[in-house]
Amino acid sequence: MKTLIIYSSKTGTTKRCAALLAANIGADSCDLFEISEKIPDISDYECVVIGSYVRMGVIDKKISAFLQKHKEELFETKFGLFICSCLADKVSDSITKNFSEEFMDHAAIIDSFGGELPADKIKGMDKIIVNSIIKIAKTDPTFKIFEKIIPESITNFAEVLKEM
Ligand SMILES: Cc1cc2nc3c(=O)[nH]c(=O)nc-3n(C[C@H](O)[C@H](O)[C@H](O)COP(=O)(O)O)c2cc1C
Repeated sequence: MKTLIIYSSKTGTTKRCAALLAANIGADSCDLFEISEKIPDISDYECVVIGSYVRMGVIDKKISAFLQKHKEELFETKFGLFICSCLADKVSDSITKNFSEEFMDHAAIIDSFGGELPADKIKGMDKIIVNSIIKIAKTDPTFKIFEKIIPESITNFAEVLKEM
């Protein structure tokens, strides 16, 4: 299944998930592109996957713009969307906020692959935000955070696409 995977990653987790997904689909048939690179024609692929990190509830603007620009082509092909996110209880909010109903209707699968908060890669204001998220999670047992990616979600995502 010739697959195009487009991703955006700030601290490397979404990039790694994109590579793991490619390995699950069959790396030889997957082309991976970071959203700022020159993206090939969607119509040259049987399957397209688009993934982004989530920050302050939103995915990368370049990914949103790409989705809007190419939605007609995407809706004519098999496609899946994934996010990397750390707020475990907010996965469905993050998905519905960032992907409109028409994407929900047409996508083969939309899921979160979990996320990571690598202390050495998060600096300045971002560190302050992350530290307050971690602090809330420690004091509020109902507030759960993903500290790791979820390999089973990646495997399942690949299976859904392969079976379609
Ligand atoms: C400043 C900042 C804000 C974040 N905001 C959110 C958020 O609103 N919701 C969420 O689920 N995760 C949030 N996260 C967690 C990221 O989605 C997570 O770290 C993800 O793995 C990042 O992917 P990347 O390494 O590809 O950039 C945030 C992380 C940072 C550093």
